[in-house]
Amino acid sequence: MEHIAVIGAGLMGHGIAQVFAVHGHTVAIHDPVAEVLAQVPERVRANLSALGLAEAAADRITLQSTLAGAVSAADVVFEAAPEDLKLKQTIFFELAAATPPGCILASNTSVIPIAEISARVVDARRVVGTHWWNPPYLIPLVEVVQATRTEPATVVRMMDLLKRAGKVPVHVKRDVPGFVGNRLQHALWREAISIVAAGICDAETVDLVVKNSFGMRLPVLAPLENADLVGLDLTLAIHNTILRHLETSGEPSPLLQQYVEQQRLGMKSGRGFYDWTPEAAQQVRDRLTAHLRRVTEIGPAGESK
Ligand SMILES: NC(=O)c1ccc[n+]([C@@H]2O[C@H](COP(=O)([O-])OP(=O)(O)OC[C@H]3O[C@@H](n4cnc5c(N)ncnc54)[C@H](O)[C@@H]3O)[C@@H](O)[C@H]2O)c1
Repeated sequence: MEHIAVIGAGLMGHGIAQVFAVHGHTVAIHDPVAEVLAQVPERVRANLSALGLAEAAADRITLQSTLAGAVSAADVVFEAAPEDLKLKQTIFFELAAATPPGCILASNTSVIPIAEISARVVDARRVVGTHWWNPPYLIPLVEVVQATRTEPATVVRMMDLLKRAGKVPVHVKRDVPGFVGNRLQHALWREAISIVAAGICDAETVDLVVKNSFGMRLPVLAPLENADLVGLDLTLAIHNTILRHLETSGEPSPLLQQYVEQQRLGMKSGRGFYDWTPEAAQQVRDRLTAHLRRVTEIGPAGESK
């Protein structure tokens, strides 16, 4: 069993720590904000209890007030600090000096290339991207991103560790912004926002279309399987007609920018594409958790069945 360190104890960090603790690893976690760090045991216990899992796994997580204290004996470090390039560069510079030589250094960045994050690390053979999804203890996928300087053996070790922790790791062979999942996801979001901005239909209709059509098929029929199912000749005919009409802007939609300027930030401000009460927002979160539990079939032992 590896000794795991997690840097940053927020939404993602405490969940990543939980995954490894549940699978029998010892975990050290660090956050510079003392209150956030102190909340980790309670947050992990609450998650485990909601999942019907034994709360004792939380005891395998130790809280560390310094980065060096968290990582000095680590086999693998997962960085889950805020999405800020300069901050992540500093953390990786410190990690390179504070960890044992063979220790893998992984960033959970959502979209920043790993080569940029490890720019100040002299020997980046042990640096790799691991893009987890929220909540990390329910969503199986982790994108393992190989940067130009990442040693192939680092990818192999990481994929093995993640598989043993019940995850579905995939190897992303090029260190491109957004990796694979967020490129696909935000291509869809860009088109969805563009459809609303163009007055083709309202936000609710866009979401109804997705939920009641291809969204229902996605878990068993992903885009490239779907293309093969309908035939690549039909796919080509459709693309010949439709592609030139799709949104291609390299800038965020003016509608999105306007909403953000107006503090229409979504559930957290009570208004985004929809109006939200705190109760309505909580209902969506609860429905999502219940759905994810159902589709991932998390059982009492914490294993996917
Ligand atoms: N939220 C998501 O859905 C999601 C999904 C995938 C990846 N990510 C990525 O994971 C990372 C963390 O995101 P999050 O949603 O957990 O954010 P968060 O704000 O919930 O947590 C970040 C934590 O980092 C701490 N922090 C600040 N400075 C630090 C430092 N110098 N060293 C260590 N910790 C520090 C903060 O106190 C905070 O607790 C980001 O890179 C984000 O893009 C987020």
